[in-house]
Amino acid sequence: MKRVALITGAAGGIGRGMVRVFAAAGWHVVGVDRAPPGDQIPGLAAFIQADVSQVDAWQQIGAELTASAGQVDALVNNAAVQVCKPLVETTPEEWDHVMAVNVRATYLAVRQCYPLLRQSEGAIVNISSVHAVATSAHIAAYAASKGALLALTRALAVEMAPDAIRVNAVLPGAVDTPMLQTGLSRGHLSGDSVDTQMRALGNRTVMGRVGQPEEIGQAALFLADNTCSSFMTGQALVVDGGATARLSTE
Ligand code: NAI
Repeated sequence: MKRVALITGAAGGIGRGMVRVFAAAGWHVVGVDRAPPGDQIPGLAAFIQADVSQVDAWQQIGAELTASAGQVDALVNNAAVQVCKPLVETTPEEWDHVMAVNVRATYLAVRQCYPLLRQSEGAIVNISSVHAVATSAHIAAYAASKGALLALTRALAVEMAPDAIRVNAVLPGAVDTPMLQTGLSRGHLSGDSVDTQMRALGNRTVMGRVGQPEEIGQAALFLADNTCSSFMTGQALVVDGGATARLSTE
């Protein structure tokens, strides 16, 4: 029997890369996204269209999961939204929406999947961000949500250890996806096209490039797989081409 991964935000940039990586490793992958998948997502065994910030949606996801796969070995909380503007211009509705998708949805997902994860002695992987540990201007709601997700990761790791459920976070740096391309509108980079801004961003990392979705997928797979990361829980795995390794004052 294949291991089952439930991946949220599966129709997005990193989500699609993750689906490919898990499927190539032999997992049965169930994807969830608010958006329809559009073109086919290679490697996906099943797709559930749902808004992960809503309580009812998780009842629907839980029912579909029990009826189809019947088990969950890894829950990957990857769906997120980003609001790029000064904090004082961020509306209460935008703040609440960011917190609902980026933090509340993980609480709802864990609450729904807990019985299945306990049965499988599975793993939870939360996709946080380097913005949880270092950040920049005009992205405060997002940074706060990713910091909260990291704190939630540690709290869950402590709480779920008696059930042999491991909980870890991946903290990606800049990865070439629709979210990153939209975020370039913050105007923090020189260049007048997405391509030149993306190159400028890549040049600021130690490795001289931005990351690809599959590179985050491989980190998530490592943390999801009990045979690879069996002694890891409550940890933050930074995958950022070395961006946070260099002193910004140098
Ligand atoms: P993306 O915007 O390409 O994909 C996000 C996906 O989440 C989209 O398909 C969207 O429809 C889905 N989504 C949003 N709200 C939802 C909801 N309420 N219910 C269900 N699905 C919903 O973004 P990307 O870049 O693939 O991001 C994936 C994860 O990686 C996010 O958690 C993001 O914060 C994180 N990340 C991304 C970085 C980057 O440079 N791309 C850097 C650091 C972290």
